[in-house]
Amino acid sequence: MCSIIGYSGKKDAAPILVRSLEKMEYRGYDSVGLAIKNDSLINVKKDIGKVSEVKHSLNLDKMPGKIGIGHTRWATHGEVSKKNAHPHYSNSGNIAIAHNGIIENFQQLKNELELDGFKFESDTDTEVLVNLIQKNFDETANIKETISKTISKLQGHYTFVVIFEDGTLAAARFHEPLIIGVEKNSYYISSDVLGFIEKTDDAIYIDNENFVIINDHNLDIFDFKGNSIKPNITKVSKEFADVYKGDYAHFTLKEISEQPKTVLQAGNDTQIKEISEMISKAQDLYITGSGTSYNAARISKFLFSNFAKVKIEPIISSELPFSPDSIEENSTLMTISQSGESADVLDAVRIAKESNSKILSIINHPNSSLSQESDLVINLNCGPEIGVAATKSFTSQLVILYKITNKMCNECMNLDLDKASQSISTILKDDSKIKKLANDFKEISDIYVLGRGIHFPIAKEAALKLKELTYIHAEAIPAGELKHGPLALMDSNVYVIIINPNDSTYQDTLNSANEIKTRGAKIIGVSNQNNEVYDFWIEIPVIDETLYPLIEIVPIQLLAYYAALAKNTDPDYPRNLAKSVTVE
Ligand code: AGP
Repeated sequence: MCSIIGYSGKKDAAPILVRSLEKMEYRGYDSVGLAIKNDSLINVKKDIGKVSEVKHSLNLDKMPGKIGIGHTRWATHGEVSKKNAHPHYSNSGNIAIAHNGIIENFQQLKNELELDGFKFESDTDTEVLVNLIQKNFDETANIKETISKTISKLQGHYTFVVIFEDGTLAAARFHEPLIIGVEKNSYYISSDVLGFIEKTDDAIYIDNENFVIINDHNLDIFDFKGNSIKPNITKVSKEFADVYKGDYAHFTLKEISEQPKTVLQAGNDTQIKEISEMISKAQDLYITGSGTSYNAARISKFLFSNFAKVKIEPIISSELPFSPDSIEENSTLMTISQSGESADVLDAVRIAKESNSKILSIINHPNSSLSQESDLVINLNCGPEIGVAATKSFTSQLVILYKITNKMCNECMNLDLDKASQSISTILKDDSKIKKLANDFKEISDIYVLGRGIHFPIAKEAALKLKELTYIHAEAIPAGELKHGPLALMDSNVYVIIINPNDSTYQDTLNSANEIKTRGAKIIGVSNQNNEVYDFWIEIPVIDETLYPLIEIVPIQLLAYYAALAKNTDPDYPRNLAKSVTVE
């Protein structure tokens, strides 16, 4: 979602800030802005649109000054408009702010500030925040006290960066990421390592409930109680520096194509052993996640119960606060999240911790908020995933679940991941049929995806990919449910993808395909075996049947990607979506 960036150093700030915002575009946004200190003035320029558009229309990158802040906004409070875009000035014009997250008590704060004579131009909680900062600064004339006083009044989740008229930058973190890039004579304040990785791989991951003040090239970190914190500079892992498309037209295609490699990198043996032991000892075991990560979580139920005889209850994170299966005392909650920043997942963790639960997490971003909240973390190690639609992170999540299961059942599975990797390579190598089929998707408005048993969560993931990338209505149906309603939808305008490798679900799913065929729908079979019922056969290689879920999603990722191209939608940045959903 929103991104913040700040720069304080010896170079011109504007081109650096614009470049940083471009690198963080994948997080999702609708407007862009900068605030730069020049002489004793803070200049703000902002508008709705893409970074490249606003850069050209407002000459953003030509703004003079060596210290500044920038922001890409994903609207929460107030419509998408120039006045609501960040940065926001305080009433005096001496302070400007960029902010991620939500200030829940903004209305009450606004009422209080209005009584003190403050005026507001936008509909945002951010403008309330910057004026609260101004009020506290007017009273204390001290930036550390100002920040301490301000955060003591805030409710909600936030990270903000403020620029003061004297060139001081201050930033605070409460349940939203904040990372400092450290270069000689320069600091970068960012939501994401991608904001500064082209400049430096030295980073300070600011802990939750900490704030920083940067002035005259000095950096000070404090906790929310005001105690000084020693900076801990670490190197950003090399994989996370790899954020270029290379020869690929889109990040999404690059990431789909990386899967033969990434499925071999997921998790390490020590982590897998440790987590398996903790799970085996768990009394009540739950697993949670959102979107794609939840689809992976559902696969764990089949694997754990079929092979390891371990019961696990998947609960979608956004539903967990309302779930009747409330988390028992002293239980274990597994979480899955690519970003480690999804607000719904973090909220689920907060609830589980109230019942004294252990948190075991499968995450791609090793220094995320979720990893800080977890008792044990396993890394996907699949490198940065920039495309908004999750692809390689999904298969890496599955690999980790397979490995945990295999460990728990004393290596009872035939887990040949080299073979799986080769099979994915084979699917990727010959995608000409898939490309051709994708062209048909230009005209259609409904796709259904059928799967049974362990293939149903894969059907859900397939439908999610098609929705996100093509904007076509796509729905997953458990194959056996057809007669209970969905058959009414089947006619000659409809395409149905049947996930049907030759395993124990094969014949029953084939029968479902035949039922649909007689209603005139077009059938796309994803299987290692052809059948006359299929109008189109997407062939997947023969592999041990336990591993089909890992490989059968790949051709559908490709299909969704090529259909997006055919429909002229942007596969990397689907409309209305953000890569990490950091608000509930
Ligand atoms: C996947 O294609 C989606 N973009 C989305 O559903 C995503 O999986 C979900 O928001 C969860 O994100 P996370 O894995 O970073 O927690």
